[in-house]
Amino acid sequence: MVHVTARLRVAVLASGRGSNLHAILEAAARPEFPAEIVLVVSDRERAQALDRARGHGVPAIVLDPKAYPDRDAYDAALGALLQEHRIGLVCLAGFMHILGAEFVRAFAGCVLNVHPSLLPAFPGLAAQRQALEYGVKIAGATVHLVDEGVDTGPIVLQASVPVLPGDTEASLSARILAEEHRLYPEAIRLFANRQLRIVGRRVLEETTT
Ligand code: GRF
Repeated sequence: MVHVTARLRVAVLASGRGSNLHAILEAAARPEFPAEIVLVVSDRERAQALDRARGHGVPAIVLDPKAYPDRDAYDAALGALLQEHRIGLVCLAGFMHILGAEFVRAFAGCVLNVHPSLLPAFPGLAAQRQALEYGVKIAGATVHLVDEGVDTGPIVLQASVPVLPGDTEASLSARILAEEHRLYPEAIRLFANRQLRIVGRRVLEETTT
């Protein structure tokens, strides 16, 4: 008898270019990958991420914050959409809308984000520029669980890159982005395989038997 294990149903939320979405879609296209991308949501109609999703045959939906009276109403609509699609993991990938505390509580432990710095250094916007201006010698990327703060949740994976003498914001961002594209699918794989154990702020990786 053949046992087909259901793959984890993942939604990716993105506002812009969607290069992380692309990396995730490419990883999920492999038959052995334990998760499938079943929905892409953007808060911006012109997001390139929407085209990338449709190019992979994934439903792409725009939820425009301007269509809702306030953030709570927006978050409620987003939450309902995710429930409707029976989503088991929400991946923020350049999603510029900050999710409210109620949404985060409702999906606690099931929302990942990628950030272009070695958190807790340089949270918030323009992290690569912050790193350059600060003068750090090592920068990097972080995939973390989302909690009620901005870029404050437990860290799942990190990777470092050097800051080189001639770096500009663009060259450093590109070096970090390559690591984001490697880390994010790996974090999803670990989550889907139930290999992540959260102990306080620490996310421990368990090996499969
Ligand atoms: C990435 O640098 C990510 O770390 C940050 O926003 C950017 C999104 O890029 N949160 P893309 O849309 O995935 O290309």
